Amino acid sequence: MWLIMKVFLLQILVFLLFGGGIHCQASIRRLTFVVKEASYTRLCSTKNMLTVNGQFPGPTIYAKKGETIIVDVYNRGKENLWFHRHGVTMPRYPWTDGPEYITQCPIQPGSKFTQKIILSTEEGTLWWHAHSDWTRATVHGAIIIYPKNGTKYPFHKPNAEVPIILGEWWKRDVNEVRDEGLATGADPNSSDALLINGQPGDLYPCSKSGTFKLTVDHGKTYLLRIINAALHEALFFAIAKHKMTVVGTDGSYTKPLTRDYITIFPGQTFDVLLEANQRPDHYYMAAITYSVAPKYQDFYDNTTTTAIVQYRGYYTPSSPPSLPDLPAYNDTDASVQVMAGLRSLADAEHPCDVPLSTNTNLFYTVSMNSYPCVNNSCGGANGTRFSSSINNISFDFPTIDILEAYYYNISGVYGNNFPSFPPLVFDFTYDYLPLVYQLPSTGTEVRVLEYNSTVEIVLQDTAVLAETHHPMHLHGYSFYVVGWGFGNFDENRDPLRYNLVDPPFQNTISVPSKGWVAIRFEASNPGVWFLHCHVERHLTWGMETAFIVKNGKHPEAQMLPPPSDMPPC
Ligand code: C2O
Ligand code: CU
Repeated sequence: MWLIMKVFLLQILVFLLFGGGIHCQASIRRLTFVVKEASYTRLCSTKNMLTVNGQFPGPTIYAKKGETIIVDVYNRGKENLWFHRHGVTMPRYPWTDGPEYITQCPIQPGSKFTQKIILSTEEGTLWWHAHSDWTRATVHGAIIIYPKNGTKYPFHKPNAEVPIILGEWWKRDVNEVRDEGLATGADPNSSDALLINGQPGDLYPCSKSGTFKLTVDHGKTYLLRIINAALHEALFFAIAKHKMTVVGTDGSYTKPLTRDYITIFPGQTFDVLLEANQRPDHYYMAAITYSVAPKYQDFYDNTTTTAIVQYRGYYTPSSPPSLPDLPAYNDTDASVQVMAGLRSLADAEHPCDVPLSTNTNLFYTVSMNSYPCVNNSCGGANGTRFSSSINNISFDFPTIDILEAYYYNISGVYGNNFPSFPPLVFDFTYDYLPLVYQLPSTGTEVRVLEYNSTVEIVLQDTAVLAETHHPMHLHGYSFYVVGWGFGNFDENRDPLRYNLVDPPFQNTISVPSKGWVAIRFEASNPGVWFLHCHVERHLTWGMETAFIVKNGKHPEAQMLPPPSDMPPC
């Protein structure tokens, strides 16, 4: 009897710790996501917005490495919906990857679609979000992937784990803000607040009572699973008087890297250890925007979001709590400090498989552009309309998804001619480029990759119209970040400095403002995979393309067949 009681208590404990279900690893877990409107009040005003299960941020998905999870998504909203698990590579199964008109047509209002989350090598923190218009501002949540049974964290087991989801808040409906920007051609209005776990914090009106609080015990260690779910803003994040040790990023572990602050770009995740080793008190954790505020884009959210780390015990807390020192909002050198120090573990249990040489070498420029308007009547730079591009092609979404067009041989949906090189070569980061470079072409072009080709992509920012950072995200893969720098990439000199020993393994990497990054991966996951800037307005303006990775010869190197309930186009 006592034994039964003990087992029962243990099960309750596991349920409380892991949100239920994770102990029965053999059975595939099934979750229900109901996308519906809910009303939320922030900054003294109330609005209706789309949520999952009425929660904001949405529910956390807990899993173990290698697990498959099934999510039944019910669209009870009024709009079409697309759903994506950011950083889950979905081996051979692009069908439920989710980006609009890339791998699927919409889950229509009133309908249901079953999405598989197929975990393989990912371990750490990833996230899920809507992948249509700007709905992901409110439809997002964390995915936490624990080590498999019998394996351990490559660091001392933390005493507790806490998701920290950074976001943005608009008083208005975000898609209205987007449509207004598209109508005038201007930069859409920036957010009204930044958020930590859905709350703006003490420094905003009517927000003090909701501020997120993390209670800690002196001497213990906490694993913060930090996600930047903001639509647009890159963020500096720090905790007053405490250092943070980065131990993972984008669902992959790293060598420990201790810093006073981190820079986290939209789409990225960081696993960070926080040691509660300071005088018991209340301390602010805070985030501000990093922005180069380029010539034509001085719209960024210049507010400060805070949450509180409070030590347990009896003492009189300082009031107000101290704020952390954060870099100046436009400090680009500060913005690359974490990227500069990140290394993968590259040990026996976490090997580094970076391709030492590559047979497919691509050079992609990422640019801000503009279209002229009659009488310079638009709201963008000098009366033009904002646009953006990769290799000067501003992407046009098709109306049938590229994956189905490819699989079923439907012609006229996309072209195969995405160029390996920009159409014009010039001094990309020169400050005084002639206006003629600002006009992009438009198209729905993709690049076809042979199965198992070894790919290098150099992503180069340009000063066309306005230089800025671009967090580029690839679906279906993580890649090794083998090099980066400021200025123009030099094909003779820069590859000599590549890190081919322990480069970090990421799914989102920020191309520095007026700089470049080089990434490598082996194209061993057949399917159609989206590549895009994770700054949402840049995506809206066309900074995206896709890869089609062909099947290999063996059946295990081929795409799996589609599910029977693919949403119709
Ligand atoms: Cu986080 Cu294509 O998305
Ligand atoms: Cu961008």
